[in-house]
Amino acid sequence: MALARSLLSITIYASSVVATAKNTTFYNPILPGFHPDPSCIFVRDWNNTFFCASSSFNAFPGIPLHASQDLQHWQLIGHVLNRQEQLPRLAETNRSTSGIWAPTLRFHDNTFWLVTTLVDDDRPQADHSRWDNIIFKGKDPYNSSSWSNAIHFNFTGYDTEPFWDVDGTTYITGAHAWQTGPYIQLAKANLETGELGEWLIIWNGTGGMAPEGPHIYRKDGWYYLLAAEGGTGLGHMVTMARSRTIQGPYESNPENPVLTNTNTNNLFQTVGHADLFQDGNNNWWGVALSTRSGPEYINYPMGRETVLTAVVWHPNEFPVWTPISGVFTGWALPPSNTVTRSDGPIVNTPDNLNFSKLTTLPLHLTHWRYPHPDYYTLSPLERPDSLRLIPSYLNLTALNGNYAGTQHGPDGQTFIGRRQTDTLFTFSIDLSFTPTAYNEESGVSAFLTQNHHLTMGVALLPASESTTCLPGINNSASAVHPETLIPQVRFQAVSHVSTPRTIVAPLPDAWKGRDLTMDIRAVNVSHYAFSIGPTGHRSQLKTVVTASNDAVSWGFTGVILGVFATSNGAKEKTPAYVTGWRYWGEGQFRD
Ligand SMILES: *[C@@H]1O[C@H](CO)[C@@H](O)[C@H](O)[C@H]1NC(C)=O
Ligand SMILES: *[C@@H]1O[C@H](CO)[C@@H](O)[C@H](O)[C@H]1NC(C)=O
Ligand SMILES: *[C@@H]1O[C@H](CO)[C@@H](O)[C@H](O)[C@H]1NC(C)=O
Ligand SMILES: *[C@@H]1O[C@H](CO)[C@@H](O)[C@H](O)[C@H]1NC(C)=O
Ligand SMILES: *[C@@H]1O[C@H](CO)[C@@H](O)[C@H](O)[C@H]1NC(C)=O
Ligand SMILES: *[C@@H]1O[C@H](CO)[C@@H](O)[C@H](O)[C@H]1NC(C)=O
Ligand SMILES: *[C@@H]1O[C@H](CO)[C@@H](O)[C@H](O)[C@H]1NC(C)=O
Ligand SMILES: *[C@@H]1O[C@H](CO)[C@@H](O)[C@H](O)[C@H]1NC(C)=O
Ligand SMILES: *[C@@H]1O[C@H](CO)[C@@H](O)[C@H](O)[C@H]1NC(C)=O
Ligand SMILES: *[C@@H]1O[C@H](CO)[C@@H](O)[C@H](O)[C@H]1NC(C)=O
Repeated sequence: MALARSLLSITIYASSVVATAKNTTFYNPILPGFHPDPSCIFVRDWNNTFFCASSSFNAFPGIPLHASQDLQHWQLIGHVLNRQEQLPRLAETNRSTSGIWAPTLRFHDNTFWLVTTLVDDDRPQADHSRWDNIIFKGKDPYNSSSWSNAIHFNFTGYDTEPFWDVDGTTYITGAHAWQTGPYIQLAKANLETGELGEWLIIWNGTGGMAPEGPHIYRKDGWYYLLAAEGGTGLGHMVTMARSRTIQGPYESNPENPVLTNTNTNNLFQTVGHADLFQDGNNNWWGVALSTRSGPEYINYPMGRETVLTAVVWHPNEFPVWTPISGVFTGWALPPSNTVTRSDGPIVNTPDNLNFSKLTTLPLHLTHWRYPHPDYYTLSPLERPDSLRLIPSYLNLTALNGNYAGTQHGPDGQTFIGRRQTDTLFTFSIDLSFTPTAYNEESGVSAFLTQNHHLTMGVALLPASESTTCLPGINNSASAVHPETLIPQVRFQAVSHVSTPRTIVAPLPDAWKGRDLTMDIRAVNVSHYAFSIGPTGHRSQLKTVVTASNDAVSWGFTGVILGVFATSNGAKEKTPAYVTGWRYWGEGQFRD
């Protein structure tokens, strides 16, 4: 008791808070699934709300914004990048690693500011046009149309952020491309026009690979500079330095790194790319990205997720961060369920969409680059209970013509999905699709990038292409001429690792003309099962394949579970109708 009392008094002293209730238990990740490079703020003027932005790469809508009042219940309230006119060039980025990298979200002058980089990862590091640095500003984060079009500024680098000094001067910091740097730079900036002063090198980090993700905080007369180092893999870490003047020289914190899970057995690995903010009681918090990959770093289909931790920051000292884990206790906060005035989904709620009731697509559904607006129709006349998809010329790989890389096309890629947010889950759709031309295809995908995805669909293919028949079903293909086109179930994998071979099995006669249920289920931490059967008869579902998720554990993004439709390079446009859409979590692994 005496010990507890003295701890409590230390807490009160350290944080100069009114005596609060017991510390609160928090669960990581706070934003499960593909939500890397978090940047968060606390805005008193907006009902004491925390807002977080994260990277979206080629996903659209881009730069998701989440809001919370207790750091426990989070709601998706919109996307900063929500209209093609804001940033047309996202349609043209060539590589799967291109797109929106690392945003910084800030609130200043009653305005929300979001500074980030549209990267065309196809171009050389030192090529100025590889890095399209941009500023968005908005007055109301709950109103997507209040976000401005991109204001561009010139910087041959990435991870840019705005900073307002006490004397009213505005700066932008950024990380220089690692092949030509590596270092962190600062320039005076006009955020309305994108005009800049001269770039100064202010810190080179502590020697880790790629010092990046810089954030400056002013406290106790110091400029504290936070950065990520070590690359976004297992060596990732957070380091800090400080200076009495903004231009430097910055002296490294002798306790660096301040946050890392390198060389631990924690499930949560690659911890880095952090941001700091204070709550309404002036207690400090940190967010970072992390992959639940540890320690093997083989199976992490959800990619880089957003994690939270408590930070203790005494006057004139560097902050002390609680290491990242699945469960931790942090500063007490008032519990709150009712977050905001958005109708966006609360994180961790299942999907059960009824397309006849929807007038707009739910906020959390996402495309890869810009969608063709005519290819997605809610509640079409001929099938009012459905979402109608028109197949794109490109399939999910998006190989176009003779370019041996990864390219978009003007037609887009017909795909709509939601992030995998649970270790174990079932994603299930009902699909009405009768392909009428060779290789027309529609189905489900566990999609990481255009170069990493697992798909199961129905396609019109020659009978000779069958490799097998569905378990327990007689192969009707043998009865027809080998060149006859018949609907077949096809599983395909595209990845950097070896994957199951393509499976092609004739669609059973009894299923023809019926709606089909297609499931992707995580049977355990490492494997997905792809199953198909007639809608309304779950007991008749046949598992086509059980495939390792290492095929979609790679790089910068995280798995999006969704539906695709493609003519695979032809001009036919037979519609596919999605009539049911469900996702439910079946287990969240935290250690
Ligand atoms: C704050 O919350 C109140 C009550 O829920 C709501 O009416 C108001 O619009 C909110 N204000 C802002 C700025 O979000
Ligand atoms: C994408 O790559 C192709 C082939 O190299 C090139 O012609 C095209 O200009 C590139 N697009 C962009 C936006 O860089
Ligand atoms: C949203 O913002 C746009 C652009 O500023 C404005 O025209 C519109 O009235 C706003 N809508 C609401 C509901 O506030
Ligand atoms: C960026 O640089 C280009 C080429 O050097 C120049 O044309 C353009 O005006 C610059 N943009 C800004 C906002 O300074
Ligand atoms: C940082 O790196 C730059 C370029 O390599 C170099 O000019 C500068 O001296 C370095 N600064 C420090 C403090 O090491
Ligand atoms: C509450 O959490 C803070 C932040 O982690 C920690 O510094 C403090 O010691 C905790 N207090 C108690 C009573 O556990
Ligand atoms: C979807 O909503 C419509 C209209 O309210 C209703 O008739 C239908 O039964 C619903 N479908 C499902 C699967 O809940
Ligand atoms: C996608 O389209 C390309 C080009 O038409 C083709 O080579 C490829 O086999 C198709 N399928 C997959 C899964 O990439
Ligand atoms: C498949 O068809 C053959 C011939 O019609 C029949 O003898 C056999 O029992 C069938 N097998 C199954 C699994 O239905
Ligand atoms: C996961 O499931 C797959 C397929 O059933 C199996 O091969 C693998 O051993 C399982 N892994 C674990 C860790 O249970």
